[in-house]
Amino acid sequence: MKKIYITRKIPEERIQPFSEKYAIEMWPHEHQPIDQDTLNRKIAEADGLLTLLTDPVNEETLSSASNLKVIANLAVGFDNIDITAAKKRNIIVTNTPNVLTETTADLTFALLLSTARRIVEAQKFVEEGKWENWSPYLLAGSDIYQKTIGIVGMGRIGEAVAKRAAGFGMKILYHNRSRKERAEKQLGVRYVEFDELLKTSDFVVCLVPFTPKTKRMFGAKAFHMMKQSAIFINVSRGQNVDEHALYHALVNGEIKGCGLDVFEQEPIKKDHPLLQLDQVVCLPHIGSASIATRTTMIDLCLENIDFVLSGLSPKTPV
Ligand code: GLV
Ligand code: GLV
Repeated sequence: MKKIYITRKIPEERIQPFSEKYAIEMWPHEHQPIDQDTLNRKIAEADGLLTLLTDPVNEETLSSASNLKVIANLAVGFDNIDITAAKKRNIIVTNTPNVLTETTADLTFALLLSTARRIVEAQKFVEEGKWENWSPYLLAGSDIYQKTIGIVGMGRIGEAVAKRAAGFGMKILYHNRSRKERAEKQLGVRYVEFDELLKTSDFVVCLVPFTPKTKRMFGAKAFHMMKQSAIFINVSRGQNVDEHALYHALVNGEIKGCGLDVFEQEPIKKDHPLLQLDQVVCLPHIGSASIATRTTMIDLCLENIDFVLSGLSPKTPV
C-alpha cells in the first residue's frame, strides 16, 4: 500500500474516502507544526506528502526522499518548498489556487475596511469602558468609497479584490509583472508603474507571491513615496515587506495605517512593535480561513496526491 504523510492533524472524515487505498499517517497535533527531524524521517518513507506553509521543504529535507512522488501544499503560495530541488527528483508539487480566491479577497477587504474605519480600535474602546459620549471626531477614520485602491499583484485574488473595490465605487489601479488587458476591459482597472501606484493610491494592497524578486519590495523607499494618508494592506507574504521600515513610516507619519495578515516571522508575539501602534490591524494569517474553503483546500490536496499516485495528472500542479 502506498503511504501518505500529512504534516498536521486534519479531521478523520476528510481522510476517510482515501483510507482503503492508502496507508495514511498524520502528525498528531492540530496547532503545533511538525519538527524538521520527524519530517525528514516521514519523507523517507512517504509516496505522497501533504504539507502546510509552515513546513520548510528544502534540498536537505528532500535528500531523504526515496519514494516520494508528490507534495501537496495546503496553500496557494508555495515559497516554503524548494521547487527546483523537487523537480530534480521528479517530485510533483501542487498548491490550492482558485478555491481560496474569493475567501481571501473577502478577508482582504475586511482588513481594508477595519483599518480605514478603525474597527478594532473602536471595539477595544467600547470594551475598555471608554465610551462616555458621542463626539464629532470620535474614532473618525478614512473613507473608502470613491478613493483610489492600488493593487500590487493582479492575479486571481487581485481581480477578486478589484471586483469588490468596484462595488465600493473606488478608482482601481494595479501593477503587475505583465499587463492584464482582459482584466482592464472587464473590471475597469488601470495599469500603472509601481512608483506611480505608490504615489497616487489611498490604499496600497500587496498580493504578490513571495519570490527572491519581491523580497522587501515594500521598504523605506516605497513607504516614503506613499501619501501620508495612505493605508497599506498585506495579505500575501510578510517577506515582501521590510517591517522595520513599515514601523518607522507609521511612527514618522509617512503613511497613516496598515492592515497585515502576514509577517516576516510568524507567529508574531504580543510585544511586536507594530502591535503597539493604534493605526495597525494585525491578523494571524487567516486569509483563506473560512471553514468551507479550508475544507475544500484539504480535499483538493488529497485529490492531487491521489491523482499522482494513481498515475494521473494532478488537478493543480504549480
Ligand atoms: C496562504 O497564505 C496561502 O498561500 O494560501
Ligand atoms: C492567487 O490565487 C493569485 O493568483 O492571486
